Amino acid sequence: MPKDAQHARETLLDVRNLSVDFRTPRGRVKALRDITFPIRRNRIVGIVGESGSGKSTVLWALLGLLAKNAEVMGGEVRFGDRDLLHASETQLRATRGEEISVVFQDPMTSQIPVLTYGRQMLDILYRRPDVSASEKRRMAVEMLGKVGIPDPDKRIDQYPHHFSGGMRQRAGIAMALLTGPKLLLADEPTTALDVTMEAQIIHLLQDLQKELDATVVVVSHNLGLIAELCDDVVVMYAGEVIEAGDVREIFHNAQHPYTRALLECDPARIDDVSRKLPVIPGDIPDLTRALSGCIYAPRCQRAMPVCRTETPPDVRRGEMSQARCHLLEGPHHDPVWMSASRLPPAKPSG
Ligand SMILES: Nc1ncnc2c1ncn2[C@@H]1O[C@H](COP(=O)(O)OP(=O)(O)OP(=O)(O)O)[C@@H](O)[C@H]1O
Ligand SMILES: [Mg+2]
Repeated sequence: MPKDAQHARETLLDVRNLSVDFRTPRGRVKALRDITFPIRRNRIVGIVGESGSGKSTVLWALLGLLAKNAEVMGGEVRFGDRDLLHASETQLRATRGEEISVVFQDPMTSQIPVLTYGRQMLDILYRRPDVSASEKRRMAVEMLGKVGIPDPDKRIDQYPHHFSGGMRQRAGIAMALLTGPKLLLADEPTTALDVTMEAQIIHLLQDLQKELDATVVVVSHNLGLIAELCDDVVVMYAGEVIEAGDVREIFHNAQHPYTRALLECDPARIDDVSRKLPVIPGDIPDLTRALSGCIYAPRCQRAMPVCRTETPPDVRRGEMSQARCHLLEGPHHDPVWMSASRLPPAKPSG
């Protein structure tokens, strides 16, 4: 099969050269700059990066729900034969909820406190006039059961404040999955939960993804969670995708100095599910300023003069992995860097 045809078959949603600015009183914030990555069908894809790197902006762009002061400067989001960036509001509304749905970090802000779960779930199915109210209720009870709510036929008549934090997030997942979407987006779905609850929600997402044949994109600060949950990872830095591809390949053989810094400064490495992003010296750059060369150069241990002046190449590894760095290709390519990429074994703790 030709490579392009295989790519199209494996890819559910393709983000290509996406750039987004926010207009602010301080000037334009160049929040996403030339972002390209595929979301492969039936995979769980993690998006990771420091605060302000643009993770949520990517999700909102996929949903067609960018803030009013956002301006799409270029690119495409291909979903089948549609470009979601240039779809009409009517088309987008049909896509959202039915084909793409979302789970938020804090269910209290996305669930309606004065309505029972039964009522909220009935409302979610408003696009199914041919399905009777009793059948809709049966579907909702079944989905609450699937996400692990005990006695779902009784709990469905309760309000969000009757549920614990973990149960509310389970209900949020049930509501997102009720219409049978192809793609589920989750922005830090476990950040508000304790470690035990977080692990349960991760396993729930994994089980549901398999059972429902869905594709999941999850944003997280937590590298352990990404390692445990995801098949693919997209590493973002200051509005750019600096590395992306298969989770195992990247975690064990990272190519970009930023990805390696994230992984290397963690003694427990990727096994500890509760781990948050390590602190790398320096700050994310001011995205209102004109940027040249490599966005990570000011903080990079391996920066060379060229890194401050020339945009690094996007270097592909295999079918689906990519990294953006001068060390990987061209006159400044460093074979030692690339071959030395296997990380040292985890330091013993204590
Ligand atoms: N509505 C907005 N108006 C102006 N700037 C914005 C707006 N929304 C986001 N930004 C800016 O765009 C950049 C990317 O923000 P985004 O929220 O996508 O980052 P994030 O990776 O999700 O961060 P976090 O981990 O803190 O959630 C940041 O510099 C942020 O300040
Ligand atoms: Mg965010």
